[in-house]
Amino acid sequence: MHEEYTKSEFAAQTALTDKKNLGIIYVLCVCLSMSNTISKHAIKIENLTKRFEKVTAVDDLSLEIGWGELFGLLGPNGAGKTTVINILSTLLEPTNGVAAVADHDVVFGADEVRKIIGVCPQEPAFYQHLTGRENIELMGDLHEVPKDVLKDRVETMLKKIGLEDDADRRAGQYSGGMIRRVSTLMALISDPKVALLDEPTVAMDPVSRRAVWDFIRELKSNGKSIILTTHYMEEAEELCDRVGIIDQGKLIALGSPKELMEEHHAEDLEEVFIKLTGKKLREGF
Ligand SMILES: Nc1ncnc2c1ncn2[C@@H]1O[C@H](COP(=O)(O)OP(=O)(O)OP(=O)(O)O)[C@@H](O)[C@H]1O
Ligand SMILES: [Mg+2]
Repeated sequence: MHEEYTKSEFAAQTALTDKKNLGIIYVLCVCLSMSNTISKHAIKIENLTKRFEKVTAVDDLSLEIGWGELFGLLGPNGAGKTTVINILSTLLEPTNGVAAVADHDVVFGADEVRKIIGVCPQEPAFYQHLTGRENIELMGDLHEVPKDVLKDRVETMLKKIGLEDDADRRAGQYSGGMIRRVSTLMALISDPKVALLDEPTVAMDPVSRRAVWDFIRELKSNGKSIILTTHYMEEAEELCDRVGIIDQGKLIALGSPKELMEEHHAEDLEEVFIKLTGKKLREGF
């Protein structure tokens, strides 16, 4: 009797253990399948070099950017920031090394990369004869945002960025700050997984700039990744989780604004930037 009891107890225990095991196996399978579909890094750059005839714009750059990370790419004029953005945007091919967005190589998986990214280029690209709203809607169409979603999203975004009153004017008549605002909305209208924003807030008034900061923070809070280039150090300090300072195509500093300020005994990021990149100027090179 006792033995029988033990047997049934054993059977029940085994069933329970099997159930538990099944649960664990199920969770592991889900994680495994997720690890196949969700890449570890939003952006991975390895030994990236880009040469234009005699100029080496990007020089053996390696960098990893995580999901949900807001990364500031800083550097003086001509440091290679736009070249990096253009390579990640699939507009330029590397001379050496590799770059991938969500595990898609920017050369061999360019079509996939284009589906994932939203780009605000340094040189605005828009149709002058279309209105601001039409330019943004066109970009949404190209990214196959459903029509009803698109209308609402455009309206909301225009309001947030304070462009609703000028949205139906031809973009060719816009001021510099208005063009940047339209370019930013064109980059973000598809709700991209990865946003590449090359000086998005240049020429913007302080209110518009803060509206763009809010957009960027919203993207980040939704787990998206953002690379932002800027010459406004307070912007980088305010927004970025980490910054990379490049000079002559090389990465010369990497870390959170706070880490870099501590490391270089600086009061703010601007002081870090000047300490690191102003050396050549001071020494008269
Ligand atoms: N198409 C090109 N042909 C030749 N040289 C180029 C080309 N594009 C960029 N360069 C050079 O590559 C270097 C890096 O330029 P890049 O535009 O990437 O700098 P940047 O960091 O974005 O500068 P900025 O802050 O002024 O925007 C510069 O010396 C630039 O002149
Ligand atoms: Mg640039």
